Amino acid sequence: MDKQFKIDITKGSSSKLEKTNFDELAFGQVTSDHMFVADYIEGKWQNFRIEPYAPLQVNPANATLHYGQSVFEGLKAYRNEQGEILVFRGDANQKRLNESAKRMCIPEIPKEIFMEGMRCLLEVDREWVPKQAGCSLYLRPFIFAADDYLGIRPSKKYKFMILASPVGKYYAKPVAVKVETRFARAIEGGTGAAKAAGNYAGSLYPALKAQKDGYDQLLWTDGKTHQYIEESGTMNVMFVIDGVLITAPTTTGTILKGITRDSVLTLAHEMGMPVEERFLTVIELEEALNSGKLEEAFGTGTAATVAFIRLINIHGKDYELKEVAPTAFSVRILEALDNIKYGKVEDKYNWIKKY
Ligand code: COI
Repeated sequence: MDKQFKIDITKGSSSKLEKTNFDELAFGQVTSDHMFVADYIEGKWQNFRIEPYAPLQVNPANATLHYGQSVFEGLKAYRNEQGEILVFRGDANQKRLNESAKRMCIPEIPKEIFMEGMRCLLEVDREWVPKQAGCSLYLRPFIFAADDYLGIRPSKKYKFMILASPVGKYYAKPVAVKVETRFARAIEGGTGAAKAAGNYAGSLYPALKAQKDGYDQLLWTDGKTHQYIEESGTMNVMFVIDGVLITAPTTTGTILKGITRDSVLTLAHEMGMPVEERFLTVIELEEALNSGKLEEAFGTGTAATVAFIRLINIHGKDYELKEVAPTAFSVRILEALDNIKYGKVEDKYNWIKKY
């Protein structure tokens, strides 16, 4: 890639801003007026552009449609009280996108294209960053195979795009989860650590089955023995047992290296909270529920930040968790993260980039 690259900007003739109700934002329903696009052709990222948001023309033989060679990211832009736009840990998302891309034989995106594409989109669609408390602009960078070819091989052409979507809360209330011991989200040697589209597709069927039984999401266990807790739904999962914060390590290749996960662990250390990065067994979890030692359980991810768990089903038995107290670790950590994201406190870890 050339050191200097130019982004062509084509602005739309109309805006959806007026029609968008920013006071009632659900997750992912509205997209902003523009999108960033780049093409990978003949071994080179090129044609950097901001375009009006519009459907793409897809050839029916497109490789992504058939073989799912596609990876994505999610990150958020927040508006502070001065009206500045703050993006939380975008460099970490850029790095992880490339780690996912590598696993899926997708060419990496140079940092400057990711960062400059995002900056440019935020400049053009600045008004789309919500002013409402608790809201943000969700950014969705993704790369997908663009070959029109029915044979199976790594595609030769790709598209990298960034979309933006103003969002409110992901979960309106605490969730009920069910320990899954038949299906697996990931296996060792698989693609679980990558933010690959297919991982999410494969999780839909078991999740839907759980939803039919009245649960919001699953607590995934390892694919081999189903004895160890791995993640929850599309999030990393954490437990507070007897004053200790426990979450699965990211060493097996089955756990997504969550950026919220990492942020929570960093702040937990700062708060003096004992942390154990280790696999919790289903048996341990059940014992902690029976003995009353399970104090808190919650998912962590970009979309929800912290998703409080109110009920866990283990082998057909429902266990209700204690109501989350205002002094609970998960409540304090959510507040601490929000304070950083909305620029209300000092950004000690250099997590924020201002636009
Ligand atoms: C996240 O919260 O990090 C996600 O990836 C959620 C997305 C699948 C909607």
